[in-house]
Amino acid sequence: MQIRTATSDDAEAIAAAEAETQRIPGLLVGRPGEIPVEAYRAKIAKLATAGRYIVAEEKGAPIGHAFLDPMPMHANAHVFRLTIVVHPGHMERGIGRAMLRDLLDWARRDTRVGKIELNVRAGNLRAQHLYRSLGFVEEARFKRRVCRQDGEYEDDLGMAWFPDRWPPAPRSDKL
Ligand SMILES: CC(C)(COP(=O)(O)OP(=O)(O)OC[C@H]1O[C@@H](n2cnc3c(N)ncnc32)[C@H](O)[C@@H]1OP(=O)(O)O)[C@@H](O)C(=O)NCCC(=O)NCCS
Repeated sequence: MQIRTATSDDAEAIAAAEAETQRIPGLLVGRPGEIPVEAYRAKIAKLATAGRYIVAEEKGAPIGHAFLDPMPMHANAHVFRLTIVVHPGHMERGIGRAMLRDLLDWARRDTRVGKIELNVRAGNLRAQHLYRSLGFVEEARFKRRVCRQDGEYEDDLGMAWFPDRWPPAPRSDKL
């Protein structure tokens, strides 16, 4: 397994794997087909300079993807939102931990990052364990924030990670 920067050629495989993950109850909030492939391509292109978008690759194919995406306004552009998905069939092999370590190492080096935020469903204990073990703290509980596909509502947790240095560098680049 190797971790590398994502390219636009990865967009279709990433979109397909995310849709497959969305079919497994309790993991992702999105629903299959909700995000067009073009949006994945655009995100990869944007984060080539504005953030970091990586894939974990095995035998020439992506088996996971993850990215850090800055928030859109200058006042909160130091806050990077985390998305991480290990593709079905590859979970619990340490791939998520390896991708998150890569992103946190990048965040420690990149002076634009002042905070990393994410939302995780209250029932997603595997993801919460991973985040806590790498230094994320729980900041908030958003009650009944996620409508599950079975029609029930679930709480969402807000979690955050902070680099040791402060303050972050001001952003002048295009967000
Ligand atoms: C969450 C996710 C990123 C974790 O990555 P992964 O490669 O599967 O996980 P890893 O093998 O790196 O580590 C999993 C850890 O969770 C632990 N774990 C597994 N199930 C658990 C549970 N029910 N409760 C607590 N911890 C659990 C494992 O023991 C392991 O901990 P350890 O490394 O301290 O032994 C991955 O499973 C995934 O992408 N899931 C689907 C999408 C998703 O949920 N994304 C996050 C949305 S916020």
